[in-house]
Amino acid sequence: MMNAPFTIEQIGMRDTSPAAVIGRKAATRNRGPAFRKGEIHSMRALSVTSEVFPLIKTGGLADVTGSLPKALLPFGIETTTLVPGYPAVMKKIERAGVPLLVFDHLLGERATLVHGKVDDLDLFVLDIPTLYDRPGGPYVDYAGNDHPDNWKRFAALSLAGAEIAAGILPGWVPDIVHTHDWQSALTSVYMREKGCATPVVLTIHNLAFQGQYAASLLPFMGLPESTLSMDCLEYFGDISTLKGGLQTADAITTVSPTYAREILTPRFGMGLDGVLNERVTVLRGIVNGIDMDIWDPATDAHIPQRYDSTSLRRKRANRSALLDHFGLDQGDGPIFSAVSRLTWQKGMDMFADTADEVIFKGGRIIVFGQGDHDIEQQLLDTAARFAGRMAVKIGYAEPTAHLIHAGSDAIVQPSRFEPCGLTQLYALRYGCVPVVSRTGGLSETIIDANDAAISARVATGFQFHPVNTDGLRLALRRALDAYGDPRSWARLQNQGMKTKFSWERSADQYAGVYSSLVRGTTNSDNNARRQVY
Ligand code: ADP
Ligand code: GLC
Repeated sequence: MMNAPFTIEQIGMRDTSPAAVIGRKAATRNRGPAFRKGEIHSMRALSVTSEVFPLIKTGGLADVTGSLPKALLPFGIETTTLVPGYPAVMKKIERAGVPLLVFDHLLGERATLVHGKVDDLDLFVLDIPTLYDRPGGPYVDYAGNDHPDNWKRFAALSLAGAEIAAGILPGWVPDIVHTHDWQSALTSVYMREKGCATPVVLTIHNLAFQGQYAASLLPFMGLPESTLSMDCLEYFGDISTLKGGLQTADAITTVSPTYAREILTPRFGMGLDGVLNERVTVLRGIVNGIDMDIWDPATDAHIPQRYDSTSLRRKRANRSALLDHFGLDQGDGPIFSAVSRLTWQKGMDMFADTADEVIFKGGRIIVFGQGDHDIEQQLLDTAARFAGRMAVKIGYAEPTAHLIHAGSDAIVQPSRFEPCGLTQLYALRYGCVPVVSRTGGLSETIIDANDAAISARVATGFQFHPVNTDGLRLALRRALDAYGDPRSWARLQNQGMKTKFSWERSADQYAGVYSSLVRGTTNSDNNARRQVY
């Protein structure tokens, strides 16, 4: 079925004969002592993902899959990332890419696996023109409709991941496979069907998207009827690729400890809380880090004036450029901004409902993003009422996101649920004060400016709960009051900029999860429970 026109050795990838790989696997699989913090592991990981920065990004998933490999390197973990060959990806890999092998019939499609490097990333790109070479984004067409064959596009990605895990590439076999969200969750289902026992970690970045498709598609995914069972793919009579992943992965992580607890409840579990409770012993939360090189106001090429915590007044030049960019009146008063998907999850409708609070107190508002048409329209209508003081732009552009962080005073994130959230972390680094709902990762990355936190000099932002417009309104009021006292505002900014945002600690935790699985020293039930609760 498959030819291998090139082998890994021919293109000069590091390593090695299959014998060496097998020897190394045997060594790493020896049940050694449990993982110790900060330990070096020497391991090879395959990350299977539908997005990876800087090749293709629709949100935080790409930031995480793009930055985690670099963060894992100091722990001796080398990651190769498998990603679909969308046009943007093929364009970036074009010159650097070397075809490794051809699948004649990957779910009926001809596919080429290409190896290449972009920046620090080592990549396998799955080039299937019939599935990926089309206009629009990774998931939707230009009109915002899902690609009708998404089930197949991401089943093919997962199947290719499983083939690699099972050893289709001579000389390159991963010790661990890391899958992300519903798009690659089927990888572990395919692997188990192939009898491939390589450990798999599935990270839930967002439980709201579950890869739910008609059960009749099962044979077209190349999966046997037996996988349509309660303990695998079956989900209210349909297939859920995410559920299949949750049932077959060896460890499940999500992107903050609070979200790990929240998703065990019906309110946040989105229909999968039952499965998650059954698998709670292998579930843990690891908070996301950020790429400290890409998001650094001292070196950021996208902003007119660079600065750091000792030169915060330089933000003024960025503020001025930001107001010009969005066609707002120049002048004093705080700028409250949002860079976000404009969706119900992100609570952007609540921001529209409370805009008057900021504007009537002399502030300005900038909203940049795209998402649900109704919410976009609600924001645009609100901005029309406050011409010169509030701007809403529908769109997506990395440089603009950086400029907003550099020029704003506060970043508003009133999410109804937020697995981790990265925007508030970028805000902290850029000396913006986050105003956030108390949920998921927001609740544990921002320290509310309550009296105790202020006197301990650890406050970094404003949290609100319950998550509704009244809650947001009160939080905006508190932030506006604090802005009126320049010394306390500056203290908030400085404390925020001192926060540890890097991957170091979280990468250590991922390394620990990988290591315990590879060594077969998976956490005992009690240990795992301790991590969740
Ligand atoms: P989510 O992944 O749920 O959308 P995160 O906060 O984890 O939320 O990550 C969002 C990422 O997407 C951040 O890197 C943010 O800067 C980026 N982003 C969101 N909206 C835009 C936009 N309109 N233009 C550019 N980047 C954006
Ligand atoms: C998801 C979540 C977000 C998280 C991101 C990266 O898109 O909505 O909270 O930060 O994934 O893990």
